[in-house]
Amino acid sequence: MRIDSLATRARALAALGIESWQLRSRRGEPSESLPQSSSDQRPSVQSPRVQRSIVEVPEPLTIEAPIVEAPLVAGDWDALRQQVASCTRCGLHAERTQAVFGVGDIKAQWMVVGEAPGSEEDKRGEPFVGAAGQLLTAMLAAIDLPRESVFIANILKCRPPENRDPKPAEVAQCLPYLRRQIEWIQPRMILAFGRVAAQNLLGVEQPLSRLRGRVHHLPGTQTPVIVTYHPAYLLRVPADKRKAWEDLKFARRSFESVAQA
Ligand code: URA
Repeated sequence: MRIDSLATRARALAALGIESWQLRSRRGEPSESLPQSSSDQRPSVQSPRVQRSIVEVPEPLTIEAPIVEAPLVAGDWDALRQQVASCTRCGLHAERTQAVFGVGDIKAQWMVVGEAPGSEEDKRGEPFVGAAGQLLTAMLAAIDLPRESVFIANILKCRPPENRDPKPAEVAQCLPYLRRQIEWIQPRMILAFGRVAAQNLLGVEQPLSRLRGRVHHLPGTQTPVIVTYHPAYLLRVPADKRKAWEDLKFARRSFESVAQA
């Protein structure tokens, strides 16, 4: 089902806090590079000045295991789903209700990648079903993408406790599952929502503000990746919804030009 009635689109835009929209015609269009925001950068924590202590206690020596990415996953889609369901590659399996494999059309042209399941997703076994998920669904609808027409997955399949950031070792174990899903689906466009999704998909460390407004490619492939704000961030900072809207329109235009090429 296509979402193209004016009323439906207006509702999606209202959810984004935007009153009206128009995709600009390609001719005479201003540059597609977008203004950069620094608001997604974490505030720097200033350490308070402390008096030098008289006795200096050395830091305990911790030896971290090197982070090695898990081997590629073999098998078909159902085998992959089963591997994810029974995965014990990292410690997150111990606390999960269930792994969240992903949802949507496995022949989708668009893939959506988020960070990791939250508590609602952990309970229901589906990505983006909590408050952030509702906003995500509205954001997709605003560019004529019904939720069921895309495939939605996360960098991590299991919920990190207290919704903390994924650890590099967890990502290293889990990313091969997402890579395999991408290989299988062969999307024509990937939308990365949030810093964690963008940095891990692209293998870069730049802040989100630097990654927006450009078409990237998934390393080693021709698959375009466009980056925007995570809906959970937009719920906290609604002032940036307008920039997210610019990103979504940019993604839609980029998709159309790839589709015509
Ligand atoms: N946030 C995410 O990044 N993914 C989800 O599935 C839910 C919330």
